Amino acid sequence: MSPAHFARRAEKLQPSSIRKMMIIAKRLISEGRTVFELNIGQPDVPCIPVFLDAIAARGREGRLNYAPFIGENCLRQAYARYLNDHFDRRGAQHLVVDSENVLVTCGASHALTSTFLSICDPGDEILCVEPFFPPYTGFLGIADGVLRSIPTYAEQGFALPTIEEMERYITPKTRALLFTSPSNPSGKILSPQEVTRLARLALKFDIFLIADEVYREMVLGDREAFSILQVDLEPAEMERLKHRIIVIDSASKAFSLCGARIGFVISRPEIIQKISLVNAHTVACVSDILQHGVAVAYEHVIKNPSFFTELRRTYRERLEAAMEAIHKYLPWAIVPRPDGAFYVMIQFPEIEDITEYCLFMLEKFNVDNETVAVTPAASFYLSPGRGRNEMRLALVVSPEKIKRSIFIMAEAYKAYKAYLKEQGKDIVAQNSRRLSNNDRGYINQENPSDCTGCAGYSVEAIVE
Ligand SMILES: Cc1ncc(COP(=O)(O)O)c(C=O)c1O
Repeated sequence: MSPAHFARRAEKLQPSSIRKMMIIAKRLISEGRTVFELNIGQPDVPCIPVFLDAIAARGREGRLNYAPFIGENCLRQAYARYLNDHFDRRGAQHLVVDSENVLVTCGASHALTSTFLSICDPGDEILCVEPFFPPYTGFLGIADGVLRSIPTYAEQGFALPTIEEMERYITPKTRALLFTSPSNPSGKILSPQEVTRLARLALKFDIFLIADEVYREMVLGDREAFSILQVDLEPAEMERLKHRIIVIDSASKAFSLCGARIGFVISRPEIIQKISLVNAHTVACVSDILQHGVAVAYEHVIKNPSFFTELRRTYRERLEAAMEAIHKYLPWAIVPRPDGAFYVMIQFPEIEDITEYCLFMLEKFNVDNETVAVTPAASFYLSPGRGRNEMRLALVVSPEKIKRSIFIMAEAYKAYKAYLKEQGKDIVAQNSRRLSNNDRGYINQENPSDCTGCAGYSVEAIVE
């Protein structure tokens, strides 16, 4: 008999770097420190009010029932209506979605985990665009799958490589391509051409195409996010593609409802039925009261589209505050301007391992008892060495607090350099590249874009 032990699957799982920082930040807060928590994508914006009214009313009825494992009909219908309305309002052609195409999950996290469990056997690979949301590794680890990445670079506006270059990363074990647009962490919105390129690649290798669109409404510039549901190919190709598309979404960011844990998988009915069985055999179902609340939230934004206009205004103000403060306090930093989501990636070109500086700032440094938590970027990459001199800020506090945080970061950087000097160490890494004029030119620049708009795409129902 072998002694009690954990499964290899569980042994491999680690808390994400984002959560590690959060634990330290929470401890410091409990000790009386003010910590600006720019390390986690948890908006401070209050949640959509109609949600609270809806769950209160439902709660007073005194019934908390099991829901259907595929999700409550009212939410599946409301979500399908919202999605069609989202594209129609922008005059964009798209694959029409019906409630049969919608599965309700415990947040996008569970939507992704269930999808991976449904399409991956042990050892199978998912190929994602790098930089990526680090928990993808763990979600896939649960299915004993392996994450591989296609690198993209800030210096190139995180542009997707050509099909030929991307093909190099596909192996016989690749089950799906995975991309996030708008991206966490880079803020990149993939152009119609780039999304179409991914669609062609998926078709060529007959694999699934998973589009994580949780930041669809979070557009920071003047370019809408182009959805996989808008791709237009030849009819025969389109027919095949429809059976390969899996969209992931969530109420967490759109409505500041991270704690409600409501997410979605959108796909063909037969794919939805298959993935819904993972719901049935894991969580059984998603909370019925919260599903009712979120259904009311989607109904609300269909009638009041200005809700998202306001939300965008909030995040745009925060981005402007961040860019202004970076320009003022960290003028040498390399900062690609994000198109969407609510994060900013900052490169400190001199630094060799930014984690040390981030921990120093959080634990050993403060200005008037105030300090800042950020996320070191190495975990957003699989490519060795990438992200070591980079961090991610989440724009989840007010513009004033963002400015103050960036000021503290600059002060902490001076103190960190002095601290290293005292120890006889040098901040400038032996092998670090010097700031080139090119890099300087990139500071606070708009991302290059090859978007040519999205007119002319044909409408076809995803359900038949
Ligand atoms: C790109 C991306 N996908 C998925 C998720 C998970 O979202 P949820 O809270 O709905 O599980 C997040 C959360 O930050 C995210 O940034």
